[in-house]
Amino acid sequence: MTVNEIDLGVTCDMHVHVREGAMCELVTPTIREGGVSVAYIMPNLQPPVTTLDRVIKYKETLQKLSPKTTFLMSFYLSKQLTPELINEAAKLGAVHGVKCYPAGVTTNSAAGVDPNDFTGFYPIFKAMEANNLILNLHGEKPSVSNDSGVDGKEDIHVLNAESKFLPALAKLHQDFPNLKIVLEHCTTAEAIQTIENINKDIKDPSEIRVAATITAHHLHLIIDDWAGNPINFCKPVAKLPSDRRALVNAAVSGKPYFFFGSDSAPHPLENKSKHMGISAGVFSQQYAIDYVAEVFDEHNALDKLKDFVSTFGLNFYDIKEKDLVSNEKVKLIRKQHVVPESITDGKGITMAPFMAGQTLNWSTEWN
Ligand code: NCD
Ligand code: ZN
Repeated sequence: MTVNEIDLGVTCDMHVHVREGAMCELVTPTIREGGVSVAYIMPNLQPPVTTLDRVIKYKETLQKLSPKTTFLMSFYLSKQLTPELINEAAKLGAVHGVKCYPAGVTTNSAAGVDPNDFTGFYPIFKAMEANNLILNLHGEKPSVSNDSGVDGKEDIHVLNAESKFLPALAKLHQDFPNLKIVLEHCTTAEAIQTIENINKDIKDPSEIRVAATITAHHLHLIIDDWAGNPINFCKPVAKLPSDRRALVNAAVSGKPYFFFGSDSAPHPLENKSKHMGISAGVFSQQYAIDYVAEVFDEHNALDKLKDFVSTFGLNFYDIKEKDLVSNEKVKLIRKQHVVPESITDGKGITMAPFMAGQTLNWSTEWN
């Protein structure tokens, strides 16, 4: 029997970049257009979001731009955070977590941390653990070319940066066994295996402390798709076909420690076409659920889609009905549509959406 409609309930995208200013006005409404009810907002603005006042104002701005979207907010891990601030922010429900960017690995990460030594942040992690806040990790080691080779260390580059980070993830979990950690936008078979190993004895989803998000674009892309195409260039970069297979298998597995975070990261088209360095980030917000549905359909796993884009993320973040600003639900419907070649606000910003010009077979509706 052909299925033409699937109830997805309250959907969540647990990794969203909406920026500020004109770009924010353009992309924030696309969260809802893309079939997403709950969005966890990234703090890598310039300067980064590190104060209570700023995060509260940012949320107010977003809420005005999209009144029916539930926004979950985050702080940017930096020296400016204190355990007192964490306690206060948690008490007010102002943030759900703290995002950790290793310095220099991606867009707006210059103010980030040294992933070779997290101990300076242990008082922050302790306060987060006590308050049930989530630590969101951009899991990449910064690139180094160890040309001298004297200390025997290996080179780090975009293809192995995530694998090289995994021991740091394991150590954080060991040192803070009750801290909820998300390895964001994971891209390798090795990362999937690490998350599975950490969770091998889990009996109930409430016991999960370490989870991973998977993006829509990493379910579609491999290295060949971004080498030569800046629109598909993002951090972490898409890896090998075997890695993509591992990500797809994890997403459709029904395992509650893998859930959706689009990492939709908008950049103006001109920043994707400069001849001196291009911006990292794929814009996928406007058709977020559709892109994921396409892959689940190809793998005869549409019955697992609701878990991936709704149940598992909401459970891990402990989001209840009372936390939602709207009780409308999302429905996936079979409906072909072509992704536009570009998206513009008519006032100077133009962007190329993920899979521009390609046909998708699923769309979303609200009810
Ligand atoms: C993100 C951005 O543009 O803010 N870019 C990206 O390639 N994913 C930052 C990030 O999440 O790494
Ligand atoms: Zn991101």
